[in-house]
Amino acid sequence: MLCGWVAKRRDHGGLVFADLRDRYGVTQIVFDPALTGDGEVFEQAGRLRSEFVIWCKGKVRRRPDGMKNAKLATGELEIACSDLVILSEAKTPPFPIEEEVEVSESIRLTHRYLDLRRPALQRNLLTRHRMLSIVRNHLDQNQFVEVETPILYKSTPEGARDFIVPSRINPGTFYALPQSPQTLKQLLMVSGMDRYYQIARCFRDEDLRADRQPEFSQIDIEQSFLDEEAFFPILESMIAKLWKEILGQEIPTPFPRMKYSEAMNRFGSDKPDVRFGLELQDLSDLFARSEFQVFHGALVKNARGLMGSIRGIVVKGQADQISRKDLDDLTAVAASFGAKGLLWIKVQEGGELQSPATKFFSDEEKQGLRKKFDLTPGDLVLIVADAKDKIVFDALGAVRLSLGSRLGMIPAPGEGKPAFLWVMNFPLLEFDDRENRYFACHHPFTSPRPEFFEDFIQGRNLDAIEASAYDMVLNGVEIGGGSLRIYRPDVQAAMFKTLGLSEAEAKLKFGFFLEALQYGTPPHGGIAFGVDRLAALLCGVGPIREVMAFPKTQRGHCMMSESPSAVAPEQLVELGISVVKPART
Ligand code: AMO
Ligand code: AMP
Repeated sequence: MLCGWVAKRRDHGGLVFADLRDRYGVTQIVFDPALTGDGEVFEQAGRLRSEFVIWCKGKVRRRPDGMKNAKLATGELEIACSDLVILSEAKTPPFPIEEEVEVSESIRLTHRYLDLRRPALQRNLLTRHRMLSIVRNHLDQNQFVEVETPILYKSTPEGARDFIVPSRINPGTFYALPQSPQTLKQLLMVSGMDRYYQIARCFRDEDLRADRQPEFSQIDIEQSFLDEEAFFPILESMIAKLWKEILGQEIPTPFPRMKYSEAMNRFGSDKPDVRFGLELQDLSDLFARSEFQVFHGALVKNARGLMGSIRGIVVKGQADQISRKDLDDLTAVAASFGAKGLLWIKVQEGGELQSPATKFFSDEEKQGLRKKFDLTPGDLVLIVADAKDKIVFDALGAVRLSLGSRLGMIPAPGEGKPAFLWVMNFPLLEFDDRENRYFACHHPFTSPRPEFFEDFIQGRNLDAIEASAYDMVLNGVEIGGGSLRIYRPDVQAAMFKTLGLSEAEAKLKFGFFLEALQYGTPPHGGIAFGVDRLAALLCGVGPIREVMAFPKTQRGHCMMSESPSAVAPEQLVELGISVVKPART
């Protein structure tokens, strides 16, 4: 007996064939009037259409020679049907339910439940499920306890905007959906829970991209009395298990570690894709006395005593593969990160340097450039200069990735050897020029590294303070991030002060938390992995939408349910809310 959906029906006059699809695969059903006596089953079979749901009963038999289908797991068999019930009829679906469909994503998302019938998406959901069950087992074996934490909660800063939910019974007040269970898991450590984990839903109102959704899941972990050297192996072995059990790949542990500063200097990114070269070189010293205004301007100290830089990438011998149009595209990539330009220099056949700016370069500078990059004909150098180091890194880091993909240096998702690493020693704080204040690079509960404690409390050299924070990176994707936490109430209060929160504001927002730290807080720390990103990497797909059952679009829409949507006026009245700019309908 089999139940499922009709994937295809073929009428061969005297015989009807149907492919029956369910989660486990496809099976061919044969309807032969000779087998079913009264002809009623055969007549029913004639009514079958794609996506009808049926129940059928019959004898499993070998397909005759010449009728076998090597592409199908069940291709040597068929069921000679003796009983058939049509359980449910189906309208013609808006797109055929097949492995690959050529239809716009918006149609697929509008009818997501049909999209999810496709074997590709079913495999992704199953892989995600297996991943989580391996994770749960692993953490259970290591004494981590799964605890659920509230969704209706208070703002937990992770750098994005909050989604807020009005409270009807407390008019004028709002819950915030957690950007992560950060404060809650720390409070569980104060409670003595010792080892916690949760497959946690997180909500962040931020600009969306292929690897960012407004709601997503984390494998959220926290541990008391933790030291990195004992904690990392638990995480590395969990990840290695996933790759071994799901993909059959051996992942060597421990993972390599790289300091943040090295990641930035070499790759222009705090989540470097180390599978290919095209590393950045610092040219600031070389052009320290440059007459080129662009270079000159980059090396002037700002009000906070910080200077920009001039950095470049060399493409060895492949200048001819980068067209004029490519250069324009790469310049646009750099510009999207705030760079004012992208200077290119090509090495000609004879060895001379061709570029819009060579006329400004001294012989010494040209010679220095040749030496730095070991330049030979056919090489291409791309340079960004800016008075803000961050712009140089972001722009060149993105140019590097774009070049890498143009030159075919980056394996497609799911291909090649995975490159895991830890990025460590992040800066604790980041200065925001527009708001003229510091922000926490990770979140405000992250501890400075012990050697920087004194400076931090005294408010000295804030730009140079390193955090006990770490990210796990795979193939240029940040798959997890965490830190050791501040567990002293005075240090936590100093952090809020450094971030420009007045005592009153800190009390209003985090009073409960500061209070809790005063009742005996164990040293603790943790991490959260992005479930969706991990699943996408394990499934070998790009966008995380492909591993989410009901994802939203880049504009945060659920196409299927058409949310977000306006609510009934009575609902607003009940909540005491008036909408200033009603939605267009
Ligand atoms: P963080 O903000 O680094 O840390 O988030 C942890 C991991 O979650 C994933 N992630 C996302 N995935 C999909 N869509 C998003 N919008 C999105 N934002 C983040 C990433 C990221 O590495 N509370 C801390 C963890 C801790 O300190 O323990 C936190 O949330 O893979
Ligand atoms: P311009 O003098 O503005 O025509 O610039 C000459 C070249 O320098 C052009 O190729 C620009 O793209 C490049 N350029 C301008 N600003 C920068 C910058 N900040 N960093 C690198 N190259 C730049």
